[in-house]
Amino acid sequence: MTRLTITRPDDWHLHLRDGDEMRSVLAHTTQRFARAIVMPNLSPPIVSVEAAHSYKKRILAACSKGARFEPLMTLYLTDNTKPEEIKKAKESGAIYGVKYYPAGATTNSDLGVTDINKCAAVFSAMEKLRMPLLLHGEVSDPDVDIFDRERIFIDRILMPLLQQFPELRIVLEHITTKEAVHFVKASGKHVGATITAHHLLLNRNAILAGGIKPHHYCLPILKREEHRLALIEAVSSGNPKFFLGTDSAPHAKEHKESACGCAGIYTAHAAIELYTEAFSAANALDRLDAFASVHGPLFYELPRNQETITLVQESWEVPKDYAFGASKLIPLRTGGKMSWKLI
Ligand code: DOR
Ligand code: ZN
Repeated sequence: MTRLTITRPDDWHLHLRDGDEMRSVLAHTTQRFARAIVMPNLSPPIVSVEAAHSYKKRILAACSKGARFEPLMTLYLTDNTKPEEIKKAKESGAIYGVKYYPAGATTNSDLGVTDINKCAAVFSAMEKLRMPLLLHGEVSDPDVDIFDRERIFIDRILMPLLQQFPELRIVLEHITTKEAVHFVKASGKHVGATITAHHLLLNRNAILAGGIKPHHYCLPILKREEHRLALIEAVSSGNPKFFLGTDSAPHAKEHKESACGCAGIYTAHAAIELYTEAFSAANALDRLDAFASVHGPLFYELPRNQETITLVQESWEVPKDYAFGASKLIPLRTGGKMSWKLI
C-alpha cells in the first residue's frame, strides 16, 4: 500500500503546555488531529472548571487561522478536589475527564493525589455523572522498581478502585506492559486504555543501549521487547478498548539533556505518521482507522469525525529540532527518516 486514507483522528492524551511554548507546538497537533484531550499538568495545574475554561480560550486563540481543532479539557485531581467541582465540570460541557497523578510520579505531579482514599467522594460523583477518570497508572513509591511501577499500580490501586466503584469510567493512560493489556481486556466496557506511538515503536534499549538517550526517557518508562509486542498485539487485534493517545510531551532541550533530565517524548510533529509506521510494520494498516479515529469517540461517547486525512508512503527527514518558546525541543527521530508522509 502506498496511499492510505483514514478518518481524521483524535489524540486522546496530549501535553500542550502554555504561552509561547504552546504556540510553538500547537500546529503540529492541529494539522493532524481534530480533537485532543489536553492534560492539565501545567504549573500551577488546572484544578478548577474556571481555570480549564481560560486555558481552553488560550489554546483556541493560539490556533492558526482556519485550523479546525477542538481542545477537550481535563481537570487535575488533588487531595482537595470537591465533588461539587465534578458536577460543575460535567455541567460545563467542556471537561471530558479528571486526571489522576499519584503525587511525585511525573512532571508537575507534586500537587497530585497523596492518598487515593481521600478521593472517594469525588470518585463516587464521577461514577454517577459518567465523568471519565484518566489514570497515570504508576505507583510513585520509591521502593518499587521503575520498570514495575505500572504492574504494581494495577494490583495495589486499580483493582481495589474498580471493586469500590465498579461503574467508574476509567482510561488507563499510556499503557506499557503486557499486564496492563491483559487487565484492560479482562475489564468491563467502561475501562479503556490509550497507547502512545513511542511505546509501539521502541523498547528500553532505545534509552540505554549504546549510550544514554535522554530524549527517549518518558514515564511510564519504555519497557522490554515482550511488553512492546503485547502492545502491538493489542492495537492490531481491533479491540475497541485501545485507542490513540500520543502523550506527546515537549520539554526544552536543556531540560532533557541534563544531569537530571525531564520525562517526556515529543511526537506531535509526526504523530499519525509514527503510528502508521508501527501499524505497517505489524501488518495491521487495516486496523489503524479504528484505533486512531473510531475507538476513542466510542469510549468518550462523542461523534466520529467526518473528514479524512491521507498518508503516502514517501520518505521525509525530521528536522533536528523545533523552536520551543525561547528554547528548542528535540523531536522523536531527530534528523532521521520517516517513511509515511501526511498530505
Ligand atoms: O513522560 C511524561 N511526560 N510522562 C508524564 O506522565 C508527563 C509528561 C510531561 O508532562 O512531560
Ligand atoms: Zn502524559
